[in-house]
Amino acid sequence: MIPARYGATRFPGKLMQDLGGKPVIVRTYEATKDTKLFDEVYVVTDSELIYKEIELSGGKAIMSIKEHDCGTDRIAEAVVDMDVDIVVNVQGDEPFTSKSGLKQVLSVFDGPDADKIDLASLMTEIYDWKEISDPNSVKVIVDKDNFALYFSRSPIPYPRDKNAAVQYYKHKGIYAFRKKALLDFYKLPMRPMEAAEKIECIRYLEYGKNIKMAISNTQSIEIDTPEDLIRANKVLKDDKNITINNMYRNFPMVPKVVFGRGSFDQLPSILAPQRKDKAPFIYLVDDVFKDDEVIIDRMNLRFNDKLIFVSAEEEPKTEQVDTIVKSIKGEFTYSPSGIIGVGGGSVLDLSKAVSIMLTNKGSSSDYQGWDLVSTKSVYHVGIPTISGTGAEVSRTTVLTGPDKKLGINSDFTTFDQVVLDPDLTASVPKEQWFYTGMDCFIHCVESLNGTFLNEFSKSYGEKAYDLCKEIFLSDNLSEVESRGKLMMASWHGGMSIAYSQVGVAHAMSYGLSYVLGIKHGIGNCIVFDHIEEYYPEGVGLFKKMKDYHNIKLPQGICNNLTEYQMDTMIDIALSLVPLWENALGDDWKSIMTRDKMRELYFKM
Ligand SMILES: [Fe+2]
Repeated sequence: MIPARYGATRFPGKLMQDLGGKPVIVRTYEATKDTKLFDEVYVVTDSELIYKEIELSGGKAIMSIKEHDCGTDRIAEAVVDMDVDIVVNVQGDEPFTSKSGLKQVLSVFDGPDADKIDLASLMTEIYDWKEISDPNSVKVIVDKDNFALYFSRSPIPYPRDKNAAVQYYKHKGIYAFRKKALLDFYKLPMRPMEAAEKIECIRYLEYGKNIKMAISNTQSIEIDTPEDLIRANKVLKDDKNITINNMYRNFPMVPKVVFGRGSFDQLPSILAPQRKDKAPFIYLVDDVFKDDEVIIDRMNLRFNDKLIFVSAEEEPKTEQVDTIVKSIKGEFTYSPSGIIGVGGGSVLDLSKAVSIMLTNKGSSSDYQGWDLVSTKSVYHVGIPTISGTGAEVSRTTVLTGPDKKLGINSDFTTFDQVVLDPDLTASVPKEQWFYTGMDCFIHCVESLNGTFLNEFSKSYGEKAYDLCKEIFLSDNLSEVESRGKLMMASWHGGMSIAYSQVGVAHAMSYGLSYVLGIKHGIGNCIVFDHIEEYYPEGVGLFKKMKDYHNIKLPQGICNNLTEYQMDTMIDIALSLVPLWENALGDDWKSIMTRDKMRELYFKM
């Protein structure tokens, strides 16, 4: 419920002021609705103007019948006849109301002391004495369980001892009531302390009710003055401009890496300091090494370490991640000392995802997307046995979930340690070597021709591009040299897209993979072969490399697709908005239409 009074003492008519093209109250309504936390959202108002505005914008509004002293009375009147359990009071003048704050205030009703709570509210840490002493900001003090002791416009507690460590909290005007508590409030007459401070929740304390406070440190802007409105308009404008794609990225790089032929043998000494008492290392190893006793022997498993062979036959799935995590948790009491991934891109991605899911609740599909992981993963090491994907260096995993193919892109995804031993890639079959190497080449082409390109990406991308040309188009490299170079090309290609993005081939290849199960490397090649329109030079070189190595790509793979499959494929590809923005710019939707994409898929 969003109480909305038209008149405001300090800033009359503030709720109808323009904020980025819409009235403040409409912004608040939409932000609240967008949290998807509520069954219903209403604005409760005394003003016909506000009522009409909300109705006009497709929202729900209720006219309050009586005159009210405060917002809580206003919403109490509105919910009397509603069948509701919990009612949340969202301030009409907080257009940037965030999901996290509301979620926190609601979460206290799931806590162990839920029975004792009459209402819940939010507070935020403050440090600036100017704000602490400002009577416009309401301070709150709490007991050890975060139940409110008192609210005041004065600084509380008073800091007689300037050195005492005390945290000041500012009260945020969001309340969540059980319906009964709300109706009780409505009937209780105001008492002197509330009248003096003009803080409505003091009435609760005066009648002995329990207010549980949740902490939220997300910034919000209340529109109390014309200056606030100017600030809010600016924030809105900046917000529109700052997206994941154009803000400066602060991304993690692999902190430790060892490179060199035979460096794999250093693994036991690298792991030793990471070993925690009774906690095993779990090795996730590509099952092509199942019968390779030499490699397994070199891993030097100790104590209760465990070897799990995983198939890279198919791209990693969220279900597969969840199953592995469940079996590890079922078998060991202690969280593992680390996860060691040994294999190609799929196995490395699987290892990254498993290490995240050992410390984060739920299913790995809950974390597909950007920055959804909140808890640090367990220590994890990546050891590529095939070069090209850049999975060893990237901040993401590629995962197919129940309804999307999308990575877990987070600061905790990146490996803590990588071992680059070119000799491990010696036994890769030729076709696979080519497809995976081309994944690297395509990373470079897509990054270097993208609109997100900057010097950082460019310097890595150009190096990898040149290495690929040398590896795939010249015949004066020995196999040993070529393996070392491809390993570094993969690394650089991965770094290049870390600060930029991939493009057309990757987006369309994700579609192929989702619908037809075609693996990433070959899928990229199938697509890339047909998109010279977007990358003339890169595709030209690719065709030369393909001929040079006598690679025959499958043809006509989309010929027998049902209409439904084709639509799904197009949906998956088009859902990867950042890739398209990088490849074709802001106007990408008018360039890559569904018809255009269908036409391209049918060529493949
Ligand atoms: Fe790729």
